[in-house]
Amino acid sequence: MADKIPHTAGAPSEATKLSIWHPFTQEALDPEPILIERAAGAYLYTADGRKLLDAISSWWVNLHGHAHPVIAEAIAAQARKLEHVIFAGFTHEPAIELAAGLRRVLPAELEHIFFSDDGSTAVEVALKMALQYWHNVGRPGKKRLVALEHAYHGDTAGAMSVGADSAFVAPFQELRIPVWRVPSAYCFRCPVGKHPDTCDIECLGALERLFEEHHDEIAAVIVEPLLQGAGGMIVHPVEFLRRIRKLCSEFGVLLIADEVLTGFGRCGRMFACERAAIVPDIMCLSKGLTGGFLPMGATVCTGTIHETFYSADRGRTFFHGHSYTANPLGCAAGIASLKIFDSEPVFDRIACIEKIHEERAARLRGHPAVADIRTIGTVMAVELSADDPGYFSRMRSVLYEFYLERGVLLRPLGNVVYILPPYVITAEELHRAHDVILESLALVRPC
Ligand SMILES: Cc1ncc(COP(=O)(O)O)c(C=O)c1O
Repeated sequence: MADKIPHTAGAPSEATKLSIWHPFTQEALDPEPILIERAAGAYLYTADGRKLLDAISSWWVNLHGHAHPVIAEAIAAQARKLEHVIFAGFTHEPAIELAAGLRRVLPAELEHIFFSDDGSTAVEVALKMALQYWHNVGRPGKKRLVALEHAYHGDTAGAMSVGADSAFVAPFQELRIPVWRVPSAYCFRCPVGKHPDTCDIECLGALERLFEEHHDEIAAVIVEPLLQGAGGMIVHPVEFLRRIRKLCSEFGVLLIADEVLTGFGRCGRMFACERAAIVPDIMCLSKGLTGGFLPMGATVCTGTIHETFYSADRGRTFFHGHSYTANPLGCAAGIASLKIFDSEPVFDRIACIEKIHEERAARLRGHPAVADIRTIGTVMAVELSADDPGYFSRMRSVLYEFYLERGVLLRPLGNVVYILPPYVITAEELHRAHDVILESLALVRPC
C-alpha cells in the first residue's frame, strides 16, 4: 500500500482520523485532511497557524466570503427564534421571505419553489417533478431522460443516472436508470470534429435526431447551463444552450437547468440561463443559495408544471419531502445572502474577477504546457497538456500539494486546474492564485 502523503499543516487527532470517512477521499492514498479552525473572507486558517487562500470557494459554495457577519448574524438570530419546524402542514416567515426574494431574482416564469437539502436533492426533485408532470397530464409514456456527456448532477441515484458514465458511478450501475446521452459542446475536444471558427453547433445534431425519433418517450433534458463543472469546467457556447431550449420547445420536452453551480452570479449573471436569454421549465439551485453557509436546495418550476399537480385528486400530490425541508436557518442564510447582493457591490466584484481572469488567460494562451483555457464569469479553467487527461490524471495530486504548499487551495479536476473564488477575493489575492498556477506550469511536461 502506498504511504499517505503527510501534510505539513494542521493534521487532525488520531481519534478524528479513525472515525470520520471523508467524501471523494481514498484514505489509503490521499493526504491527511487539514484541520481548519476558522475562516474569514477568502481565507481558511489552519490549526497550526497557516492561512490558505480558498480559491475554489470550498467546493463552489461560498459567495460573499467566509463567516460573513451579516449571514452569521441572520442565522444566529433565527436560531434563537425558530430553528426548525415540519414543513408539511406548516410554514414560516423565513421560507416565505426567501421564496419572495428568489422570485425577485428568478425569471418571472419560474413561479413555484420546492425546497430540499442540497444540490443532489434539488436534482432528484427536478427529475421526479418532470416525470410526474407527464404522468399528471396523461402521457405516462414520456418517461425517458436525456443528459449530456461529461455531466455531473450529484451523487444520489437519480442524479448519478443523469451524470456521465465514469469511474464515480461504475459500482452503482444497477441503481442508475437508463438515460439517453448526447454530446456536450466540449469545443476543445469537439465531439463532431469542428473548429470554433466554422462551428454551427453541429454537436446538437444527435439531440435533434433523438427528438425526431423519440420525443413521445422523452420527459426532459437536463443540462448544466453554459458550464459543466465536475466534468472538467467545460464552457459551452451560448448558442448551444439556446438551441437546446429551442429544440425542447419544438418537440414538447421539458428543459431542466441545473444551476446548482452556476447560480447566484457564478457565471457573471445571477443565473447562467440569463446569459443565453432562455428560461428553463425547471431550475435546480443549491450551493450559493445560502451564501455557502448551510446546506439547502431548491427546485423551481413554471406555473404550467405546477398546475398539473394542483388537483382534487390526491394521486397528483408531489409525494416528496425531507425532514429538514425549508429549514428556517438555511432560509435565513439565503435571505441574508440575497440582501448582500443588494447592499454590497457584488456584481462589480464579479466583473473585476472576470476581467482579471480574461487578462491572465490571454497571457497563458500559447504556453506549451497549456492545452486549453476556458473562462466564464468568476470561473477560469486551464486544461493542462497531459498524456493521461481526465479526472485520474497523475498530475492532480502533485499539483494539489504544490498549491497548498504555497498557501492556495486549488483542487484540480485531473489535468484541469481552475479558479472559482468567493466574490470578495481582492485583485491581489486573485493574482496570487493565478501566479501559483503559472508557477506550476513548470511541472507540466508538454506532450
Ligand atoms: C451542477 C451540479 N449539480 C449538482 C451537484 C450536487 O450538489 P451537492 O454536492 O450539494 O449534492 C453539484 C455538485 O458539485 C453540481 O456541480
